[in-house]
Amino acid sequence: MDRIRIQGPCRLSGSVRVSGAKNAVLPEMAAALLVDGTVTLRNVPDVRDVTTMAKVLRHLGLRGLVVEGDVLRAEGGDLGEPQAPYDLVRQMRASILVLGPLLARQGRARVSLPGGCAIGARPIDLHIEALRKMGATIGVEHGYVVASCRRLKGAEFSFEKKTVTGTENLMMAAVLAEGRTVMKNCATEPEVTDLGRFLNACGAGVEGAGTETIVVDGVSRLTGAEHQVIPDRIETGTFLMAAAATGSGITVEGCRPRHLGAVLAKLKECGVALEVGEEEIVVRPDGPLRSVNVITSPYPEFPTDLQAQYMALMTRAEGVSIVTETVFENRFMHVGELRRMGARIVVHGQTAIVAGPSPLSGAPVMASDLRASACLIVAGLAAAGETIIDRAYHIDRGYAQVERKFQELGARMERIRA
Ligand code: UD1
Repeated sequence: MDRIRIQGPCRLSGSVRVSGAKNAVLPEMAAALLVDGTVTLRNVPDVRDVTTMAKVLRHLGLRGLVVEGDVLRAEGGDLGEPQAPYDLVRQMRASILVLGPLLARQGRARVSLPGGCAIGARPIDLHIEALRKMGATIGVEHGYVVASCRRLKGAEFSFEKKTVTGTENLMMAAVLAEGRTVMKNCATEPEVTDLGRFLNACGAGVEGAGTETIVVDGVSRLTGAEHQVIPDRIETGTFLMAAAATGSGITVEGCRPRHLGAVLAKLKECGVALEVGEEEIVVRPDGPLRSVNVITSPYPEFPTDLQAQYMALMTRAEGVSIVTETVFENRFMHVGELRRMGARIVVHGQTAIVAGPSPLSGAPVMASDLRASACLIVAGLAAAGETIIDRAYHIDRGYAQVERKFQELGARMERIRA
């Protein structure tokens, strides 16, 4: 297993370009299952989750799927056996995104249950309930979600809780269903909006993606289309926090600042000096940081996917900050590792109390999930001495060429290959 070595503290400078959004490209790749014709996605990030989704789709019989640089092409059309096996699904929960498209396209699907996940129970009950409402028969057999239907029928469904991939799965199922589907209490994340744009470019009738109510008028066929994937707002936020934690000035290019409203507001409240343009954000080193509380919530509030990195930042700030995680249970696995680097953090249930500033010192640490590993990078850059992050594969799931991008910003960071 690769490891990442950081020799801190690092002062960053220069500019970095963010990649396309992992959480947008994954459902868009799954949507290729719905299409007759050529799908071209641009600004595709070079991350392992894309490779995993490509394996799942090839296994399902999607033809001609190639990724060259940041362009992905696939030939939608006849598919093979609609079965996504455990070996692939266990590598990435988002594989469940093929369930809706397979049902809509082939009338049956066998998708392995994603299984235990490091950040809480993360069930898929709402995906299943929604698809049942559209006429699918769904059960669990031998660890697989087994689903079948005649043509799915438009229905009205209100999500009991906001779910990003649940909203996307239902939206994709509805585009080829008979009649109108009205979806309520939908997730409003920019990645959902982007999927809606892509589906409509393919000829779908989706209205309201990005709002809490999405209306989909089913069509009989989707054609291929070209689509530019939105920039990754979580990668953007991670660079901003890395710069702020190290008292550095950097420019983050090719980003979409309007997707980061709550994050930018929070950083400004902490005393981080930001200049926000149309497609770039400049961070300037500017005096000591203030501790500010944060509560994670679905978009447009502060994202759970930046909670861990924000906590690393708060170890550098003056005072006490309370970090409350409301989206996932058990998403504080980075706390133990931050403590080993000298952070003073106490956890009570869904709340972590961070007392800052702490002089962090480098240490050997273990990444437990994708965003926890990004948190350890932020901490390692700010800490004095050597930090070695074990299980770098977690970071490779969602951050493109992470050590190259940080090296270009002047960080002493390298990959130790297994
Ligand atoms: C997506 C993102 C992930 C992000 C998360 C929350 C992708 C590929 N992943 O994950 O990076 O951290 O949104 O912003 O886009 N829930 C249920 N039943 C369900 C579905 C979800 O109870 O059927 C619960 C989950 O346990 C969790 C909450 O709803 O507590 C939100 O989860 P959800 O939005 O579904 O997360 P993902 O779509 O898996």
